[in-house]
Amino acid sequence: MAAVAGAEGRNLVAIVDGNAAYRTQVAQALLSFYRMVEYPDSIRAMAALGVCRPELMLISEDTPIGGGFALVRKIRLRPDLEGLPIILVLARDDPAARQEARDCGADAVLIKPYRRSALIRQISALVNSQIEQSWESLPPVQRQALKGTVEIYNSISDVIERGEPIGYANVTEACAPLVQAVNTNDFKSILNGVRDHDNYSYAHSLKVATLLSLFGNTIGLPQSEQLLLASGGLLHDVGKMSIPHEVLNKPGRLTDDEFVVMRSHVDASVAYLSLNPDIPKGVITIAAQHHEKLDGTGYPHRLPGSKLNDLARMAAIVDVYGALTDRRVYKPSMPAEKALGIMCNDMRNHLDGKLLALFREMLLDAAVDAPV
Ligand SMILES: [Fe+2]
Ligand SMILES: [Fe+2]
Repeated sequence: MAAVAGAEGRNLVAIVDGNAAYRTQVAQALLSFYRMVEYPDSIRAMAALGVCRPELMLISEDTPIGGGFALVRKIRLRPDLEGLPIILVLARDDPAARQEARDCGADAVLIKPYRRSALIRQISALVNSQIEQSWESLPPVQRQALKGTVEIYNSISDVIERGEPIGYANVTEACAPLVQAVNTNDFKSILNGVRDHDNYSYAHSLKVATLLSLFGNTIGLPQSEQLLLASGGLLHDVGKMSIPHEVLNKPGRLTDDEFVVMRSHVDASVAYLSLNPDIPKGVITIAAQHHEKLDGTGYPHRLPGSKLNDLARMAAIVDVYGALTDRRVYKPSMPAEKALGIMCNDMRNHLDGKLLALFREMLLDAAVDAPV
């Protein structure tokens, strides 16, 4: 069963541990990423699970009343809780305890004391594997569009870490089913399928890729150009891979210094993409200019409208729409109509009016009325 984000827009994580101070500590560490619920013992956890299913459970080995291993076994016997991801938290690194954790049905283990980053990484991986499993029920083209792009997106972060160029042929290959789905007007299940993915940068980039490709289709560009737009959309924020997690996912307002770091993603994207001379200029334009504004107040170069071609203008529109309607750790997604209203009324000096009118019409025609 796929994880479903709550109304507040964040996935729900349950902590089961007898120590209130520990529960509070973990809850505080995760609060900006997930909604949290805490249980002091296995009886209360089991009772609550009948009413409210979390997207993931973090169960301590020494949970009061029966212990953590027994609680995991009980959960695994409940058909209504099938597939619920569980991390068992062990008090020490003991091979026999690791084996027992696996045997009783835990998906992963953490050893106390663990680093906050290890906890977040582990939770994120399990939430994503649930979401990615739900893609299996989609038709082949949509399934392939999601599976291929997430695979390439994950591999790009390794490629960047090694300082190697990004292979463009792999990116276009992964984006081809996406363009195919757009051309048969069957792309909404792709947008829905990625909505609750825990890798925000991937989810945002895939949405931008899909809508840019649709935009290209709407204005009558050939499929080869739509593929460039989709690839450019998937790659437009690759520089964010070098932005620290705390800045990228900060729930509150960024400080001036943090803004400087955040804005550096544009130059970083251009630097990564430029390592491969086969990457088309259009793709680099999308990455380089999607934060520029027609009145010259954008970044990184404060380019005036006269220097921004249609590709940059389309990318800016789709990126703003994506950011407004994205679900973030600190905000739920905004309905499409409200986002378009803000763009048409408050961003007239930033975005190309003609293209924005076409984009708005396109979304209304496609009935992309729910938050995507
Ligand atoms: Fe960006
Ligand atoms: Fe973006």
